[in-house]
Parts: sequence; C-alpha cells; structure tokens
Amino acid sequence: MSAPDPEPDAPASAPEPAAENAPEPAASEPAPDAAGAPVVGVLGGTGPQGRGLARRLALAGVQVVLGSRDAARAAAAADELPGPVTGVGNADAARAGDVVIVAVPWEGHRELLVDLAAELAGKVVVDCVNPLGFDKQGAYALPVEEGSAAQQAQAVLPDSRVVGAFHHVSAVLLLDEDVASIDTDVLVLGDDREATDLVQALADRIPGMRGVYGGRLRNASQVEALTANLISVNRRYKAHAGLRVTDV
Ligand SMILES: NC(=O)c1ccc[n+]([C@@H]2O[C@H](COP(=O)([O-])OP(=O)(O)OC[C@H]3O[C@@H](n4cnc5c(N)ncnc54)[C@H](OP(=O)(O)O)[C@@H]3O)[C@@H](O)[C@H]2O)c1
Repeated sequence: MSAPDPEPDAPASAPEPAAENAPEPAASEPAPDAAGAPVVGVLGGTGPQGRGLARRLALAGVQVVLGSRDAARAAAAADELPGPVTGVGNADAARAGDVVIVAVPWEGHRELLVDLAAELAGKVVVDCVNPLGFDKQGAYALPVEEGSAAQQAQAVLPDSRVVGAFHHVSAVLLLDEDVASIDTDVLVLGDDREATDLVQALADRIPGMRGVYGGRLRNASQVEALTANLISVNRRYKAHAGLRVTDV
C-alpha cells in the first residue's frame, strides 16, 4: 500500500509561530523576483504535493503548468490556485516545463516516465517520489531495483537531467493558506551541477525554504527513505517536521 503524504496522522493544520502567519501576497500582486524563473511543469499536479509545490512556486511568481492523466482535472485544480497556474494533460505539462516535477505515487512512477521520455528529453526532471510501504508499525522504505526513485527516473530518462528534491516537504503545509513561510531546507541531489543549482534556486524562491546540495543521485535512496523516519516523527509529535542542515 502507498500513502505518499509524509504525515498521514498529523492534524490538518499545525500551529505556526506568529511571525510565520503573515498574510500571503494577493494572487494579483506581482511577485518581486519573477524575472528569469523557468517554467515549471508538474506531473501528477492534481495531488496534494503537486498542487502544494505549484501553489508556493506560483506565489513566488513562477509560471506553473499542472499535468494530469485528465486535462480537465488539471485545469480544475489550476483554477483553485493563486498566481500563474494552468492545467493540461501530463504530456503537455512535460512539453511546457523547462523544469518538470514528478509528483505521482511510486506505483505509477516508472510507467509514466517511460511514456513521457520523449517529451522530457532535454528537461530538468525533479523527482520528489518516496518509495514507501505502510503497515501496522508505520512507514518503511521499499527496495528499488535501480537504487532509488530518482535513479529509476534517470535510467528511463537518459536524455533528461534528473534531480531529486522536495522529498521531505509537507503537502499539508504547502497548501495551508495560514502558513506564510515553509521552515525547511530541501536536500537537492543530482549529477549535473547546473541542474542542481537551478533546482536549489527554485527552492530558494519559496519563503522560508532553502535548497541545499545533498550529493549525487546514487545517494538519493537514503534521502527518500528518511521520509519514513519523518512520518514517525510527525505521528509521535503531531507535527509536520522539516529538516535543517546546520553550518551551511
Ligand atoms: N503528500 C506529501 O506530503 C508528499 C511529500 C513529499 C513527497 N511526496 C511524494 O510526492 C508524490 C505525490 O504525492 P501526493 O500525495 O500528491 O500523491 P497522490 O495524491 O497519491 O498522487 C498525485 C497525483 O498522481 C496522479 N496519479 C495517481 N496514480 C497514478 C498513476 N498510477 N500513474 C500516473 N499518475 C497517477 C493523480 O493525478 P491524476 O489522476 O489527475 O492523473 C494524483 O492526483 C508521491 O510519490 C510522494 O511520495 C508527497
């Protein structure tokens, strides 16, 4: 069974420090640093993680194209979000994005990427997929033949530059309109420096968030698996835990 939300037992809205509850900019206000941002496509953009990342990036002025297996579903999801967000089929989202985030369940990961390999050629593909199983004891990391979801993506997308990122970011917080700042570092992994720099810069656009280089793709499995530990933290402490890397 797959439960991709890292905090299935956590309350819908965690209390936030007062300083983080400042109102977000209205959708019509221009974001201060929109110039030069890549267009971001989101595969599986109708789910909480895809919508959540889209929402935060759009509020930062980034143009986002949500993808779905059903274009109408993506368009409806886009209508609910603030800022420059549109919704189309997954293939069109892959074509539209300079950077394309993969936000589908682990079960559909390989098949979707195999189908979209041509559309994703030449793109930076950001994989946030956590291959996890769940049982009575909670979440646990699933074995992955290629080593990790990110390595699987790179194996089936030889003409794309795959980056692993956003594995530990809570969709609940991303979608919470009362949370103005996402207080977390984002570990960014990849084998291409230009691509990891680009994704770090995208993370940096989201208030409170910081992109931190976390190593090569061959080290993605433990980053994906660490989500299982964060789910345990969230269940015990009724939280939406993030991570901070110190002394960087
Ligand atoms: N939720 C979180 O807090 C969180 C945090 C960090 C990372 N992640 C990772 O982000 C990914 C998405 O999480 P989520 O909670 O948003 O997942 P989700 O709601 O289960 O799925 C996201 C979207 O993927 C599409 N989809 C479902 N099954 C599919 C399949 N077999 N093939 C292709 N597309 C499929 C659906 O969109 P359509 O039906 O519209 O196509 C769905 O709305 C997961 O891999 C998870 O590990 C999640």
